[in-house]
Amino acid sequence: MPTGTGVVAAPVSYEVDGKQYVSVAVGWGGVYGLAARHTDRAGPGTVYTFAIGGTARPPAFVEYKLNALLQGVPYDKTQVEAGTALYVSNCAFCHGVPAVDRGGNIPNLGYSTPATIANLDKFVLGGTLTDRGMPDFSGKLSPAEVEKIKAFIQGTADAVRPK
Ligand code: HEC
Repeated sequence: MPTGTGVVAAPVSYEVDGKQYVSVAVGWGGVYGLAARHTDRAGPGTVYTFAIGGTARPPAFVEYKLNALLQGVPYDKTQVEAGTALYVSNCAFCHGVPAVDRGGNIPNLGYSTPATIANLDKFVLGGTLTDRGMPDFSGKLSPAEVEKIKAFIQGTADAVRPK
């Protein structure tokens, strides 16, 4: 039975009023699962329950939402190279290659809104999204380093944009 996403948990089988069910949690989650991009779909958590002899239709797969390619965020071109190293060691594991990778549950920053990337420091330093799993890099990255990462993200989106 395709679920369109990862099956990370073990299934459980049980009986209610003489009818047997099998339930299994699906969706990428956990440390590695969250960042996995093994399909081009989003993988939100869902519990599938199968009834033996059941006839209900499965839920629709959730497509990965791809917004417009990032455009127009001002950046210093001379900072792209330094930003690459910072991005690779701090962000790539979760966010993938900007404007290239897709799928999974963590947004690709090459398709974030220009307002988001223009205000990158607000997301990276200060912990506004920690409840959604985005780390707070306060004390680990300086504002100047965040500017370099910004240059890499917009620079990469510009580099892959069809001419
Ligand atoms: C441990 C995984 C992880 C790492 C490492 C990580 N992030 Fe995130 N990031 C997330 C998650 C999870 C979200 C929230 C996604 C959501 O809202 O559903 C997020 C959200 C964001 C957003 C908001 C995107 C949007 O379009 O809404 C930005 C910007 C961002 N991260 C930048 C960065 C940068 C820059 C780095 C590296 C310095 C980084 N992140 C490192 C997991 C991570």
